[in-house]
Amino acid sequence: MKLINISLISLLSFSVITGCGGDAPIKGAGSNIPYLKANHLNYKDTTTATTPAPTKDLGAQTITWSITADTETDAIKLFDHIKFMTGKLETDKNPRPWDELFLIDAYMKTNFRYTTDTNRLTNTVTITKAATDSCAYQVISAHSDVTKGDFFAQGIIDIDYSPIAQTIINSPDCLASKPALDAYILARKKAKM
Ligand code: HEM
Repeated sequence: MKLINISLISLLSFSVITGCGGDAPIKGAGSNIPYLKANHLNYKDTTTATTPAPTKDLGAQTITWSITADTETDAIKLFDHIKFMTGKLETDKNPRPWDELFLIDAYMKTNFRYTTDTNRLTNTVTITKAATDSCAYQVISAHSDVTKGDFFAQGIIDIDYSPIAQTIINSPDCLASKPALDAYILARKKAKM
């Protein structure tokens, strides 16, 4: 009997430590990336009913999306992905550290140069990203192009967008930010595994 109790206690503590169903330290857990890749065609632009597309407002420096998923599960998976990624960026983590576009995206987020607001109403997910300046706006704009053209349209997620990042860093809009962006890339970039 004592043995059974001990085993039960160890089993319970193991569950707590590994965080069963919670934030277990499994690579990719919570990002839902494999699900989104496999089901990318389940998402449509709420207005056009074709591939989701960002609405860009250069003057206001905002990017908005309204995406309607085929099922509520699809919508939850997308909503959770964005919340998970926002959380990563806000806690100074680097998803895709081999890709300079994702690195400068993280830089802009940790330096409070754009905000992300994500909402879900049944099957529809709306996202509003607002930049504080034209350099940060270029970064979120490029990210949204990739999300539309490669992620949603084709389910392709392994292209390295570093050349796009370089064009942005070397553009007039990013002149003042260039030293900090270069330094951030140097400090954070990792080789692709
Ligand atoms: C290569 C794997 C991926 C990574 C590392 C990744 C990472 C990210 C990051 C860092 C954000 C920004 C979060 C924020 O703004 O606070 C984001 C947003 C988003 N992701 Fe992903 N993502 C990936 C794949 C996908 C896929 C496959 C889809 C859909 C098929 C998707 C859809 C979205 C959408 C709609 C947003 C919000 C809109 C936007 O940021 O422009 N992502 N993702």
